[in-house]
Amino acid sequence: VPLQAHNSFGIVAKARELVRVRSEDDVLAVLADPELAAGPKFVLGGGSNIVLTGDVKCLVLKVEIPGIRVVEDGPRATVIEAGAGENWHDFVTWTLEHGFPGLENLALIPGSVGASPVQNVGAYGVEVQDRFESLDAIHLESGRVFTLNAAECAFDYRDSVFKHSPARTGDLGLAGRAIILRVRFRLPKPWRPVIGYVDLARKRVETGVDEPSPRQVYEWVCAARQHKLPDPRVLGNAGSFFKNPTVTPEQCMDIIAREPNIVHYPMPDGSVKLAAGWLIDACGWKGKSVGNAGVYEKQALVLVNRGGATGGEVVTLARAIQTSVYERFGIRLEPEPVVV
Ligand code: EPU
Repeated sequence: VPLQAHNSFGIVAKARELVRVRSEDDVLAVLADPELAAGPKFVLGGGSNIVLTGDVKCLVLKVEIPGIRVVEDGPRATVIEAGAGENWHDFVTWTLEHGFPGLENLALIPGSVGASPVQNVGAYGVEVQDRFESLDAIHLESGRVFTLNAAECAFDYRDSVFKHSPARTGDLGLAGRAIILRVRFRLPKPWRPVIGYVDLARKRVETGVDEPSPRQVYEWVCAARQHKLPDPRVLGNAGSFFKNPTVTPEQCMDIIAREPNIVHYPMPDGSVKLAAGWLIDACGWKGKSVGNAGVYEKQALVLVNRGGATGGEVVTLARAIQTSVYERFGIRLEPEPVVV
């Protein structure tokens, strides 16, 4: 089964077998089928955060569970549930069109609803964990359905229990061991805009709109993303390829002494976050390529498929970037997407 249309990098690879699951019962049927249940499985959502470096030898489960419903519409919040297979951006748009603001900063993030908690997607000052209520998932070994609240998801910056490998974290890690079925979001009332992020603050000045509506913020976010990030349908990519690293204030002072222009943000816990895009840009990578894999011209944090790139080329390019950032700044960049 060809996987090119199932990964936003547009990398050519095949799966031994691909089964589309549209409901909890579909998943249970797969787990009850002796032939399908036996081997290893790979859970695929929107495919917007993976790098395929070869054919996938196991059974690929493509999650296509649909449905959006309002679970609770109280005085202090609205809780909305969406099937894991819903397209994330379409879901965000639906919430705004139905008068439930709160997710507008996360507009235009590629991928599915079910993938959003896996890496705790975030943009423009809001992360999924800020709007998360709970999720239902199914354990691949036991077929047991379970619910997790935010604390149980162990959210962190671009991280959750769904990225933790059981080998590293003991029985708690759920990487490769569960399928997310439905996710519930809590949208607080009254709505308050989150517009502190530089790109949005600039829009506010440019437009002269001091108190934007949710729709306005949604449009600002869409415009900012369209300006800086490549559309995966046009140019294959997986969004930011590296996480923004954090350093101690001492390390930061050290680097500032050598690189006065470095982009850095103080974090609530006292550490300092550095802009990985700036570090890569400073090493001269913008617009460069290794084979058919390249660094996007307008945002050095995004690696792109210039046409026909292999996962190997993407990984080689990523390693070369890591080496040069390490040699110049002494900082190890950590990839964000899952390398398969
Ligand atoms: N910068 C450069 N050169 C570059 C890229 C960035 O100098 O080539 C500088 C920018 O000028 C800016 C700073 O680096 O001062 C930060 O850049 P930007 O505002 O574009 O945000 P980012 O840190 O690169 C993060 C997220 C994005 C998210 C944006 C907006 C990560 C890894 N990335 O990017 O998330 O959309 O902020 O909130 O945290 C994703 O995770 O896939 C993603 C796209």
